[in-house]
Amino acid sequence: MTFTDFKTYFQANQGHYADLAWDDPHQLTASELRAVRASLQTFQRGESSEGHYLYARAKQLGDDEYTAAMRLFIKEEQTHAAVLGRFLDQQGIARLRGHWLDSVFRGLRRVLGLEHTLRVLLVAEVVAAVYYRALFSATYSGLLQQICRRIMLDEEMHLNFQCFALRHLAAARGGAGGWLRRQVYRGLMAGAALAAYATSRSALKAGGYGLFSFCAAIAAEYARTERMQRADGLIAVRGGQPVGPAVPVGPVGAWQWPSQQLRAAQ
Ligand SMILES: [Fe+2]
Ligand SMILES: [Fe+2]
Repeated sequence: MTFTDFKTYFQANQGHYADLAWDDPHQLTASELRAVRASLQTFQRGESSEGHYLYARAKQLGDDEYTAAMRLFIKEEQTHAAVLGRFLDQQGIARLRGHWLDSVFRGLRRVLGLEHTLRVLLVAEVVAAVYYRALFSATYSGLLQQICRRIMLDEEMHLNFQCFALRHLAAARGGAGGWLRRQVYRGLMAGAALAAYATSRSALKAGGYGLFSFCAAIAAEYARTERMQRADGLIAVRGGQPVGPAVPVGPVGAWQWPSQQLRAAQ
């Protein structure tokens, strides 16, 4: 597998939001709005990055295929922002111009080099992968469920893409300081999970997650990304052949159908 496989995947994946059911008549009820409004605004804002800094960092690697894949990845995140933004507009929910959590993550991404930037991004993507699972189950909006389902599919490949790049960067750097680095980013992951829980608790609750089950889901997903970064870890591109051992390992990915029953907001 190479970065060309990810570029090809991202190219083929464009336009898969074109047939969303925008004519879905369901308007979120008052209780659904109470549950999901604030976190939807926050995540829509978080998806909105222009990606200039990330793109510039990726370009420094000097691999044209990686740069092209990164450009398409950023475009896909912007599509998430556009689709969620349109949903907010349709539901009469204002878009945010900024959010402190988003500012913290943007700031953290901009220090140090590409590897650090990707590791901070990975933490945010793990939070997103679990959040959209919860959001899927948090309302009776068929349109929102459709959006969540597609974003979950995308986010899983985003995690794989970042892990594939991180594996390359780690191999180039050598193994020094690996244990300490892992603990630092695990700490960041834990902090991000708690911050996300604090700011999105009502949506997570409506989607069937309490603090413990949310943190457990985050831990499982983050552990999966750690395994993918190992030299013998399995990394797959949807529609392509996995790279790594022949037998898949680890828990299922974020894209798979949520195991929770469909629930409505209280
Ligand atoms: Fe996204
Ligand atoms: Fe993503």
